[in-house]
Amino acid sequence: MSARIIGTGSCLPSLVVDNRKLEEIVDTTDEWIRSRTGIESRHIAVEETTTSMAIAAAQAALEDAGISAGQLDLILVGTISGDCVFPATACQVQSALGAERAVAFDISAACAGFLFGLGIVDAYMKAGRIRTALVIGAETLSKMMDWKDRSTCVLFGDGAGAAVLREEEQGILSILQASDGQKGDALICENRRVNNPYRENSNELDYTKMNGQEVYRFAVRTVPQSIEKALDEAGVGADEIKYFVLHQANIRILEAVAKRLGQPFEKFPTNLQKCGNISAGSVPVLLDEINRAGKLQRGDKIVLAGFGAGLTCGTAVLTW
Ligand code: UT7
Repeated sequence: MSARIIGTGSCLPSLVVDNRKLEEIVDTTDEWIRSRTGIESRHIAVEETTTSMAIAAAQAALEDAGISAGQLDLILVGTISGDCVFPATACQVQSALGAERAVAFDISAACAGFLFGLGIVDAYMKAGRIRTALVIGAETLSKMMDWKDRSTCVLFGDGAGAAVLREEEQGILSILQASDGQKGDALICENRRVNNPYRENSNELDYTKMNGQEVYRFAVRTVPQSIEKALDEAGVGADEIKYFVLHQANIRILEAVAKRLGQPFEKFPTNLQKCGNISAGSVPVLLDEINRAGKLQRGDKIVLAGFGAGLTCGTAVLTW
């Protein structure tokens, strides 16, 4: 038996900020952002929160799956931008849904958070511990940006995506998770420093900092390798894959991965043009778009892959 995705959902903030609007607040241009990343606009939370979007995405996914919250055994939220340090966003989602039976906790794996969640579901199901699970990727990274730093603030957007998984004959065929803590400094937000009456400068806050080129190199090297390995483990050829649903950080990364895999770029759906990089929300929001557009048929084989801070990388091959 394996974990099969039986429903998806997503939620994006109502405010859309295009590149031209950013030109008003930071030293950048629409031309630079489009040509270096492919991003044209992004959704930014004003009234929405990580939790409210996670709940809305979860409700949409449950409806799509045709199951009730009471059937859930496990709720996982991949997030690095929860509204509270504790309780976990997943516990807040559990409460809002009324999913009383579900165990709920968060996963801190940045842009690979949704994939790491799928990895946990896969393992729990194989161990016979759960039958039905909800995995969410939800972020409001806008609150962790230095809006004067053009090298980061133009890249990210807010939003949440969710998937319901159930134990079935066909589903996740292989799933890989990898972490490289040695490269942790390449993408970091250090805003929970030691803070108490016995330490000077206790209240310093910091924002997201990225060595873009290092993360870029990691992505174009690690992601194709990871996909090839996952395909190998699944016994599936790249040509059999209908879609490669990859983390939406930069269109140039997606093009490089397609080239390395020798696959046509048409197999790599994108929404980064309108959403930017939603970190853990990226893959499930895009998956929901494809699902709702009716582009997936039962039995299709797809690849999901997320990569980012940690550095982390998660890749899954699955049957829809
Ligand atoms: O989700 C986590 C995963 N994250 C990623 O995968 C990100 C991976 N990295 C990237 O996508 C790219 O490295 C970036 C899009 C972040 C940057 O693109 P780049 O082609 O590597 O540019 P760069 O950092 O080498 O900067 C080139 C120039 C610099 O100016 P000088 O030093 O050449 O004069 C930057 O100061 O572009 C400048 N620059 C900008 N100019 C206008 C950097 N950001 C901006 C900006 N607007 N927003």
